[in-house]
Amino acid sequence: MTLPRTVTLVEVGARDGLQNEPDLVPLEAKLRLIDDLGAAGLKVIEAGSFVNPKWIPQMADSEAVFAGFKRRPGVRYTALTPNLKGFERALAAGSDEVAVFAAASEAFSQKNINCSIAESLQRFEPVMAAAQAAELPVRGYISCVLGCPYEGEIAPATVLQVARSLLDMGCYEVSLGDTIGTGSAGSMQRLLDCLLADIPAPQLALHCHDTYGQALANILVGLQHGIATVDASVAGLGGCPYAKGASGNVATEDVLYMLDGLEIETGVDLQALVAAGERISAALGRANGSRVARALGGGEKVC
Ligand code: HMG
Ligand code: MG
Repeated sequence: MTLPRTVTLVEVGARDGLQNEPDLVPLEAKLRLIDDLGAAGLKVIEAGSFVNPKWIPQMADSEAVFAGFKRRPGVRYTALTPNLKGFERALAAGSDEVAVFAAASEAFSQKNINCSIAESLQRFEPVMAAAQAAELPVRGYISCVLGCPYEGEIAPATVLQVARSLLDMGCYEVSLGDTIGTGSAGSMQRLLDCLLADIPAPQLALHCHDTYGQALANILVGLQHGIATVDASVAGLGGCPYAKGASGNVATEDVLYMLDGLEIETGVDLQALVAAGERISAALGRANGSRVARALGGGEKVC
């Protein structure tokens, strides 16, 4: 099968990455990160999350984040919006696009957004209507597509049902979240065989956390199936507050290295991206989670 010639990298480090940090991340560090990511050539940057700040304190300053960064032309700055209240905050803050997020597991849905899958879909309806009126595109996420921390295995048919609902209500794309990173090339293949019988590849994106070190293999399976949008988090930042032990998203640097090797265009510069990852890792006082960044010895030694 031919691989896509270009891939859109959706950088989720400033949201999925930082939402799970134990200590509050200074606004300045967030703004610097977002600027560095834009400078590296990323065209879609998830910059914040308009959720209940009591649930996710790290994202409580999303208004200040959106007010603070300097917009780069051609970059879409996006945010999570779980309900109409979140959408209204995102709209006022100037988000270019929003994302609603559902799950393929009832237990995870309850833990993450305090309602059932069906209730969440109902809750998204007014968000979709408001987004349409404001002419903002809406992305849909589905968590736990390849496994749930509470329910274990998830049937591909369940994922298909949720994906179909999100697309039918107007999401332009569904991002498939392997929230706890338990997926393998085999389970990804089975999931995509099921989904692609009904949904065209351009309407799907992959969002792989790398807990079991399988993310790159799983993404390669996606590319082989024609999926050309991949979420990733610089320096492998993150985890999931409602999935104990889940590690961050696959590192953007590692995905980029693979895509560069496959001669797939992304428009992102590896050296600048590694430097961005080094800077935020230093600001957080944590080791860089990107294998590629570590192999290259950080920002200085990239050639
Ligand atoms: P709830 O407590 O059921 O909401 O939360 P509620 O409607 O009953 O309201 C309770 C209070 O929250 C009220 O305030 C509301 O005003 C307030 P009070 O009257 O008590 O003072 N509230 C809000 N405040 C600010 N912004 C809002 C908002 N909504 C309500 N948008 C809710 C329901 C969905 C809001 C809550 O469960 C929540 O915020 N959950 C977010 C959880 C989250 O952010 N998880 C991480 C992101 S998802 C993820 O990481 C997975 C992903 O990466 C893909 C993958 O890896 O799988 C996307
Ligand atoms: Mg995630």
